[in-house]
Amino acid sequence: MTTLSDWLAAQPVDPKLASVVATMAAASAEIAEVLRRAPITGQTGLAGHTNVQGEAQKALDVISNDIVLNHIRHNPDISLLVSEELDEAVHIQNQGRFMVATDPLDGSSNLDVNVTVGTIFSVLDASKGLLQRGSSQLAAGYAAYGPATSLVVTFGQSTTVFTLDADGTFQLTQEGLQVSSSSGEYAINTARERLWDAATRGYVAENVAGETGPAGKRYNMRWVGSMVADIHRILMRGGIFMYPLDSETVSKGGRLRLLYEANPMALLIEAAGGRSTTGRERILDLVPTGIHQRVPVILGSAEEVTRVEGWYGRG
Ligand code: AHG
Ligand code: MN
Ligand code: MN
Ligand code: MN
Repeated sequence: MTTLSDWLAAQPVDPKLASVVATMAAASAEIAEVLRRAPITGQTGLAGHTNVQGEAQKALDVISNDIVLNHIRHNPDISLLVSEELDEAVHIQNQGRFMVATDPLDGSSNLDVNVTVGTIFSVLDASKGLLQRGSSQLAAGYAAYGPATSLVVTFGQSTTVFTLDADGTFQLTQEGLQVSSSSGEYAINTARERLWDAATRGYVAENVAGETGPAGKRYNMRWVGSMVADIHRILMRGGIFMYPLDSETVSKGGRLRLLYEANPMALLIEAAGGRSTTGRERILDLVPTGIHQRVPVILGSAEEVTRVEGWYGRG
């Protein structure tokens, strides 16, 4: 088997960029270890603070953020960190060429019920500023802490899966991931149906109509409540993930964050042949207005995403 470090060494990228992915992989392996025993060590539950998002931080949100920060501080090539759990960007040091934007623990509402959560990261050129289009990302990836701990990474051209081994190394387990262009599975929080716009309502209704409806096939619905878990399923077996604008999220621009949720996931999905949109614009084309900006997120199997855009195009 090929280890992550051997695979990184063989990639046609700047070794310093590869070292940033290695740093985030090492942080993820440490987070995985903490999560595995959290109910025993008593690290579950609330941290007692509210983050800049207005969310009650979980202890493991803060612990995961600290673990990422500690690993980043030891990589001389990283000068900036943007994190869901930090109000402002953190200047790590002067020279480092790279900036990391991270969601140190995604899906933290699932922590207390032992459902898959993850760490998401995006790597950019720090010299180009904090607010760069997602298409400028140099690398992106996530760790999914599930039955196995998966690490999924891209430098923009292809999407590759590694699995954490018992000795703490990541082993290459799948290369050249391809998101199937069509799928019979969609992911959306249907409890929000009363808040949906006509496009979301129309697209989902076509799926619910099944074989005899306009989609002409049967659909299944899956919603984990961890973006990492839902996106990993879509990368592995196809599907569409939707957290669209609705009458509640429209005032904030959306629910999910552009820099460290939407952009890295969009790069991974597009590198695997899928598509990503807000419904009206390609996610990776958006020029961010702030480090915690929220956007609508619709991404996954190309045909499904195109059908949603068709509904938005109907005005
Ligand atoms: P986070 O735990 O990093 O704040 O992100 C949670 C996000 C995302 O992971 C998930 O898709 C979404 O919240 C779930 O939202 P609902 O609870 O509204 O379903
Ligand atoms: Mn959160
Ligand atoms: Mn998240
Ligand atoms: Mn988070």
